[in-house]
Amino acid sequence: MKAVAVFPAHREVKLIEQEEPVITQSHHVKLHLLEVGICGTDKEICSFAYGTPPAGADFLVIGHEALGEVMEVGDAVTRFVPGDLVVPTVRRPCTHELCRSCRAGHQDFCETEDFTERGIKGAHGYLAEFVVDEDQYMNPVPQHLREIAVLVEPLTIAEKAEYQLYTLMQRRPPWIDPALSERTQGRGHTALVLGAGPVGLLGAMALQAREFETFVYSRGQMPNPQSEVAQAIGATYFSSQVVSPSQLVAHIGPIDLVYEAVGHSQFMFEVLRVLGPNGIYVLTGIPGWQTLIEADLATLFREMVLKNQVMLGTVNAGPHDFRAAVADLEIFNQRWPDAVRALLAERTPIEQATDRILGRPVGIKNVISFQH
Ligand code: BGC
Repeated sequence: MKAVAVFPAHREVKLIEQEEPVITQSHHVKLHLLEVGICGTDKEICSFAYGTPPAGADFLVIGHEALGEVMEVGDAVTRFVPGDLVVPTVRRPCTHELCRSCRAGHQDFCETEDFTERGIKGAHGYLAEFVVDEDQYMNPVPQHLREIAVLVEPLTIAEKAEYQLYTLMQRRPPWIDPALSERTQGRGHTALVLGAGPVGLLGAMALQAREFETFVYSRGQMPNPQSEVAQAIGATYFSSQVVSPSQLVAHIGPIDLVYEAVGHSQFMFEVLRVLGPNGIYVLTGIPGWQTLIEADLATLFREMVLKNQVMLGTVNAGPHDFRAAVADLEIFNQRWPDAVRALLAERTPIEQATDRILGRPVGIKNVISFQH
């Protein structure tokens, strides 16, 4: 079978031929892959800046944003039958007895950093025609979402952020209170999404669906495919080439929430400086090793304290977030069917996957599609 692998020692990314995997344990499921999304992490792995092959291997099969169809199940598997659609969980627990998170099934909060991530760290991924995996890490997806379900994994990032956000919001007066809303003339909560890639736009959809007044802030000038998606879901788009970070508040008012999805430290920092009172700044982008940033940290920390601000880094996603992503994708599909599909303008066959990953991106979300 075909797979796409990175060979870090030889600095090579290529299509390889592998033995088709077989079920060897009763809790195994065998999938044939339907689609695999490509994200910034894959590009980093393919430029040898990130990613680790499994122990003893000199290559890593990449791909972690997967949608598969169950082909076969082991004797002990009762949750799935052949034909079911699933999205696999990316991260797998460490083996340390003392890791409270992994032992509780929450490896997205692993305390030892010895977790593995399929297609990223220490375990092969899903950019392969077939995969055998453990039943407990498969998340079911309804058949009618097949066309867009490759978006589940990138959406889990927003879901995990939002789950934590609700806990953080508890420190403030109720945010949806009709009596209060009348007195404050219906002023809702503003959310600024940094970045208009798939993680940003899916985050914007989740925030719009939760009644935040949502703004998307990205580099590209309007009109462009990303600004069109933002507008189609009722968000307002600003280009950073037209509106500078320091001008944002004049356009938006106090910013209650920033949902960052760019991974560019300088930009992240400039926007942090305009976060509103009691604001929450959620970081999801993983910055590369960029040049040193000069910053007035004394003023920044002073402002953070005096304004009750919170900065939250979040990575990966747990079981709850996968369920929430499937449920939200259902809502997006009903509310904005065209905008959701506009994220997935093009599909690339696996034979051309390396060109697509290494070359210029086409459309908003690049997806590798398998023909069976
Ligand atoms: C993946 C996460 C992963 C993170 C860090 C992201 O691209 O979606 O599942 O935890 O990279 O490796």
